[in-house]
Amino acid sequence: MKILVIHGPNLQLLGEREVSVYGKVTLREINQGLEREAKILGVSLDIEQSNHEGVMVDRIGGARGRYDGILINPAAYTHTSVAIRDALAASGLPAVEVHLSHIYKREDFRQHSMTAPACVAQVTGLGKDSYFLGLMGLVAYCSKIKPKKKVHATRKSK
Ligand code: DQA
Repeated sequence: MKILVIHGPNLQLLGEREVSVYGKVTLREINQGLEREAKILGVSLDIEQSNHEGVMVDRIGGARGRYDGILINPAAYTHTSVAIRDALAASGLPAVEVHLSHIYKREDFRQHSMTAPACVAQVTGLGKDSYFLGLMGLVAYCSKIKPKKKVHATRKSK
């Protein structure tokens, strides 16, 4: 099973950016934790970070047929991006949206996710554990929908 992990804008600054909100964890540490978890779960990851909406849309757009699911923190684009929502919906892939902070406890403009309706689930407010629980949930979800091996019907003997 292959999972695409996408981190959105400004998440490359984790560890130095608004530490009181996002904590001291760096993106590198999150990615290392995800890789460790992926090994245990027996899945492989491609991990990307982009500050550009169009790049994220392209990456999601190219995921169909190459990945089984998408783990995404769209960051600020969560609240604004119809393009990312449409890309997720068009991909036909199960996606889980994650946030370090609890977006429903923050400023009004963060309390709506444009992208979550195109995802099978959202994990928000658990810091780096949002990513780890998100990956676990996504893999469990994908395992259930993965097509089972075809069982060929045996021809009835006359
Ligand atoms: C975030 C929450 C967003 O509102 C914010 O713009 C981010 C990070 C989070 O992980 O808590 O950049 O997605």
